[in-house]
Amino acid sequence: MSSYRLLPWSQACAASAQILICLRHGGQKWIDFARSKTKTCRMTEIFMGNFTQQEPILDESIAAAVAVMQHGRLHRYNEAAGEVSETALLEQEFAAQMGARYCLAVASGGYALATALRALGVKPGDRVLTNAFTLAPVPGAIASVGAVPVFVGVTEGLVIDLDDLAAKADQADVLMLSHMRGHIVDINALMDLAQVHNLKVIEDCAHTMGAKWGDTWSGRAGIIGCYSCQTYKHVNSGEGGLLICEDDEIMARAIMLSGSYMLYGKHRAGPPIEAFEAVRLVTPNISGRMDNLRAAILRPQLRQLEAQCAAWNDRYHVVDQGLAQVAGLTRIKRPQQEKFVASSYQFLLLDWSSAAIRSVLARCLARGVELKWFGAPDPVGFTSRYDSWTYAPSSAMPKSDRILHGVIDMRLPLTFSLDDCAIVARIIAEEVAQEAKGA
Ligand SMILES: Cc1ncc(COP(=O)(O)O)c(C=O)c1O
Repeated sequence: MSSYRLLPWSQACAASAQILICLRHGGQKWIDFARSKTKTCRMTEIFMGNFTQQEPILDESIAAAVAVMQHGRLHRYNEAAGEVSETALLEQEFAAQMGARYCLAVASGGYALATALRALGVKPGDRVLTNAFTLAPVPGAIASVGAVPVFVGVTEGLVIDLDDLAAKADQADVLMLSHMRGHIVDINALMDLAQVHNLKVIEDCAHTMGAKWGDTWSGRAGIIGCYSCQTYKHVNSGEGGLLICEDDEIMARAIMLSGSYMLYGKHRAGPPIEAFEAVRLVTPNISGRMDNLRAAILRPQLRQLEAQCAAWNDRYHVVDQGLAQVAGLTRIKRPQQEKFVASSYQFLLLDWSSAAIRSVLARCLARGVELKWFGAPDPVGFTSRYDSWTYAPSSAMPKSDRILHGVIDMRLPLTFSLDDCAIVARIIAEEVAQEAKGA
């Protein structure tokens, strides 16, 4: 149902104060100039959608969660006779989906990353390579095991800079590769480089669950793949993480680390019991298990993953098309082999001044479009940069700094329709163009 309301609009027309007739329509609000000094009528759109609103949890997930609450066995190892826990089933199903031998469900994506480091034997003081363009839980996981992040630069494609990686590769034994915001580096080239330098690769797939490079699932090239099931990711259990791996000993360690006590035999996607012999008494329990409630919520979502990924990409393409011809705005080129899942959208305002970028952000926000900026000197919300993490020493990376300064980031929740995405793109295009003109 549409509703009308009157709003003063000072910004829309410099000629005079305007009274606007607003027609609210779904997630969009259309603003029509009722009166202007020049008598010319112009439409200005304001977007009313909520950039942080996820879809509701599937009915099937809710029913499964209710069943778990009704029987009360929320702890993953609390199984009735003959029962296989939701968590064990989730692991089995995700492993099968990714074509992996083993899977472990844990409390969060960040926990999965720290567990991966520990399972590979990373010790306090070790150096671990990682992306300069990523989010705080990635260097945070490295710091949590007492190791030291070594930041590797970012390209205009928003992926790890392979030249910089080659230059720094000898400083560490492990690379924690973050497929930040779903941008996937040429994984074959990266793995070749890793082989030359004897680097063990952990893939941070928090933003690439369901994505591929060529025919390879994101998370399957490295030794360990880590995923997040946190609300803003591709499956949503509020919090949660998954870790996949092929190696018996590494997975046995990860399971012990996650807090399996001596119940590791209950795992359905874990290595054979013998793999635990060497590790079970020497591996600390650092509890971070997933519970059956979250697993119950996630299992039906995994069955929908492909369709959800396609829906995200439909939205991405509408936005990307809408921004195709905007002077001063650089879209990110995506290689053909990259089968990305675009649950967010990034573009660059390369070499723009901070003041001009701030102005674009403010103009877009005034029209309901929330953009995040990775170039802000102080981290805001979820954004931060390698030089924000002052616990990790870093030296300036001018090439990367230029790119990070221009990175603009926007969520694309599935609660947006394709029309919503077209409106969002129009607003960004108009405001960037206006700012570029100095208007
Ligand atoms: C790039 C990246 N890696 C890892 C994580 C960690 O995921 P979680 O929030 O589940 O700990 C996040 C979370 O936002 C992330 O954005």
